[in-house]
Amino acid sequence: MYAIKSLKKLALLGAMEKTVKLSSSEFMHHISTSSKTAARVLKQLEEDGYISRKLVAGGQIVSLTEAGVTLLKNEYADYQQIFCKEHPDLELYGHVITGLGEGQYYIAKEGYMSQFRDKLDFKPYPGTLNVRLMEQSAQMRDNMDLMQALFIHGFNDGERTFGGGRCYPVEVDGINGAVIIPDRTHYPADLLEIIAPVKLREALRISDGDEVKIVVKNPRNCR
Ligand code: CDP
Repeated sequence: MYAIKSLKKLALLGAMEKTVKLSSSEFMHHISTSSKTAARVLKQLEEDGYISRKLVAGGQIVSLTEAGVTLLKNEYADYQQIFCKEHPDLELYGHVITGLGEGQYYIAKEGYMSQFRDKLDFKPYPGTLNVRLMEQSAQMRDNMDLMQALFIHGFNDGERTFGGGRCYPVEVDGINGAVIIPDRTHYPADLLEIIAPVKLREALRISDGDEVKIVVKNPRNCR
């Protein structure tokens, strides 16, 4: 219940850009609660992966994790939907390229597959279509952050751990799919990885170098 309120306060204190030192008794004033509850909230936020925290004399050093920032951005997207009158779709253009051939391995993992089925309502073709965005689209890509992300959680298959990420539903030349953005990789800003229920290269008769239009649905951003 306190998660959003607390993350918002921490972000206002600067914990999105840097680490912030605070004690539970300071923090209780920020979220109008008791010191005991404030301490419990911070511990819970850490356990849920929304903040990272290091206990030090007189308090703790706190910063928001990527998951914490994403939770706040989703909240922001909700308010934009409430208050903004227009929700134009975001249209991105790019060219099909060949990736490293790793998409197939990752997408086929049951730990991911089951989440895609639940959250996206389709069973993805095992692989990702890599698209290099054209310059203007690459600049607009950050607008995706203002949209409602679907979270894909990391897991362990008994041999190794697999990281989490987020998805944004899209249409690729009219076919439903989703852009996937892993949490822990730093992709070039102009690269998109797309999953879909069908092999897009076959369904759309496209190959390397062909142009595709990617419509990111319901971006909810005010323009
Ligand atoms: O080799 P690369 O990393 O580009 O691809 P992959 O993830 O191993 O996927 C195998 C092949 O299927 C690649 O040629 C992808 O472009 C293609 N693909 C597709 O056409 N439609 C999808 N929904 C997913 C992958």
